[in-house]
Amino acid sequence: MSKIVYSALQPSGKLTIGNYLGSIKNFKKLQDEYECFFNVADLHSITVPQEPKSIRERSLDLIAIFLASGLDPEKSTLFVQSHVSQHASLAWVLNCMSYMGQLSRMTQFKEKSQKSEENLNAGLFTYPVLMAADILLYQTDLVPVGVDQKQHLELARDLAIRFNNKYSQTFTVPEGIIGKETGKIMNLKNPEKKMSKSDPDQNSFILLLDDEETIKRKISKAVTDSMANFDYNDEQKGLKNLINMYIAFSNKTKEEIILKYKNENYSVFKEDLGQLISDSLKDLREKYFEYIKDKQYLEKVMEQGAQKASYIANKTLRKVYKKVGFLPR
Ligand code: TRP
Repeated sequence: MSKIVYSALQPSGKLTIGNYLGSIKNFKKLQDEYECFFNVADLHSITVPQEPKSIRERSLDLIAIFLASGLDPEKSTLFVQSHVSQHASLAWVLNCMSYMGQLSRMTQFKEKSQKSEENLNAGLFTYPVLMAADILLYQTDLVPVGVDQKQHLELARDLAIRFNNKYSQTFTVPEGIIGKETGKIMNLKNPEKKMSKSDPDQNSFILLLDDEETIKRKISKAVTDSMANFDYNDEQKGLKNLINMYIAFSNKTKEEIILKYKNENYSVFKEDLGQLISDSLKDLREKYFEYIKDKQYLEKVMEQGAQKASYIANKTLRKVYKKVGFLPR
């Protein structure tokens, strides 16, 4: 039997190429080797304020992007978290086994809670428990996530082990497929910060669906330095970030790239990089605009995904309820 993979993205804003490289880009390869579940984490998205209309649009967008990136709904299960009620049900049981202390040490909680201090909601605090429920429901072996989710994955492992020890073997203990450091894409205007679509400066990030001209313009405006030295190091963080992007989109090594551009102006490199990014995303972009027009098809994919997911999720949840002591229905 092939291993099980689970990953999810939140429908909470437009995706940047950083989001893409850290997740969706790798999904297609996983699909051919494993039994995959790719999810739209709408329940997670409401832990911070959202417009209902925007959640609806972004959720549909994500399904279209999954398909456009080559995911096949006959092979992978593509679905929306809120369509499968077992996620919230298992999260409740796991909440009752999670320690406040451990949850309050989560880096992401600490960061997010500092930002929206006036009205901290409990969902933000138990967010990683819901994520653990997502993962454990499907007896997941492998979880591809960015470095920022590593701590949450640890919690999922802890909870699986804690439950298995307290009751009996119930959950597979998942492993992470953690993104590489070079896969982490930084802000184009400030390479000390992670690239983020919520940055007020539109030129600081590239969106997955940006057109060719926009991509090239943003790359040409990206900060570098005045050292006129094409190299890969921490003194030249802007350039390093651009080289990382080149690596991610071309699969060339940094040595090959340095050799190629050593005696060139930064602007030559930037032009090539803009073209490379745009070309690499062209197919996805075109297919996305096709899929997003066909709402009926997207609904069919989601429905089929939800059915398959709930069947499996329910098997796990039934076991959990029984072991905890809930009467069978
Ligand atoms: N928290 C993840 C993120 O923001 C999204 C997510 C939700 C997830 N559930 C998951 C990722 C389960 C992997 C597995 O990136």
